[in-house]
Amino acid sequence: MILASTNETVEAGNGFNHKDIISVSQFNTKNLDYIFHRACEMRDVVEQDGCSDLLKGKVLACLFYEPSTRTSASFIAAMDRLGGRVIPITQGVQFSSVSKGESLADTIRTLEQYADVIVLRHPEIGSAQLAADYADVPVINAGDGAGEHPTQALLDLFTIYEELGTLENLKISMVGDLRNGRTVHSLTKLLTLYKVNLRFVSPEILRMPLTIMNEVIDAGINVRETHDVADVIKNADVLYVTRVQKERFTDLSQYEEVKGHYEITPEIMSQAKEKMIIMHPLPRVGEIHDSVDSDPRAAYFRQVKNGMYIRMALLAAVLGK
Ligand code: NCD
Repeated sequence: MILASTNETVEAGNGFNHKDIISVSQFNTKNLDYIFHRACEMRDVVEQDGCSDLLKGKVLACLFYEPSTRTSASFIAAMDRLGGRVIPITQGVQFSSVSKGESLADTIRTLEQYADVIVLRHPEIGSAQLAADYADVPVINAGDGAGEHPTQALLDLFTIYEELGTLENLKISMVGDLRNGRTVHSLTKLLTLYKVNLRFVSPEILRMPLTIMNEVIDAGINVRETHDVADVIKNADVLYVTRVQKERFTDLSQYEEVKGHYEITPEIMSQAKEKMIIMHPLPRVGEIHDSVDSDPRAAYFRQVKNGMYIRMALLAAVLGK
């Protein structure tokens, strides 16, 4: 498969036709505008009619080697709402031939005999690209280990735009496991396309990887790192909170040391701007206290809904509709 690259002139929609979606580096402001525009159309479809038959006759294979609630359910819902069908190998990898030792390549080459598009989540960095190298149908990366999570980053960016009305001149603070969190890796890379101000808040051992820091610096972004939410809370327009990724630790005693390092409470929220939004890719495991949920600035469940619209837009685009 060929990637839609940032250098390519992407005509509305067909720039993604039959393309894989592996990394956010495939996106530029022009094709992001296109996806966001389509996502708004998808929202209208859902709000007005609940569904359409745009993808009638199309089949999605949803292959998840790691746990998921939102990503898998939103891809399934997206396909459903557009009139397509799904082969869900999400909770069932342990019951599939994967548990007999089948290689990823063979599983992919099998699924593409049935499906028009494959969504893959896998624990290894680079697995989505590997799958795309074997498949003739488009492969969408739903998370490759601690690598990337491009569809999440698209829905995160869309949420920021929908909530704040702009993507320019924002002060965005990311909090938590910046080392292992694929959502913050992809979102940070996407944000380098805009004039933003980034603050990274993490314990020392969970700092943003150097390769991504270098991309941010090369893009001329104003960026600073700190260990303390108190340093960023007053100025932030977006507070993007993440879970410490327990499954990426080889030494669990290190996880025990850093888990629970941050907890956003109503007291902390009282120092934030009235217009700030707090986001989280979810699942949360204590980083945001439940009592923050009733704060109108808590955008994380609205973020979830946007995920379905973005995935509807992406599925339509890669299937040439
Ligand atoms: C994230 C993931 O899987 O990377 N979840 C998601 O897709 N919404 C975040 C996480 O698991 O912490």
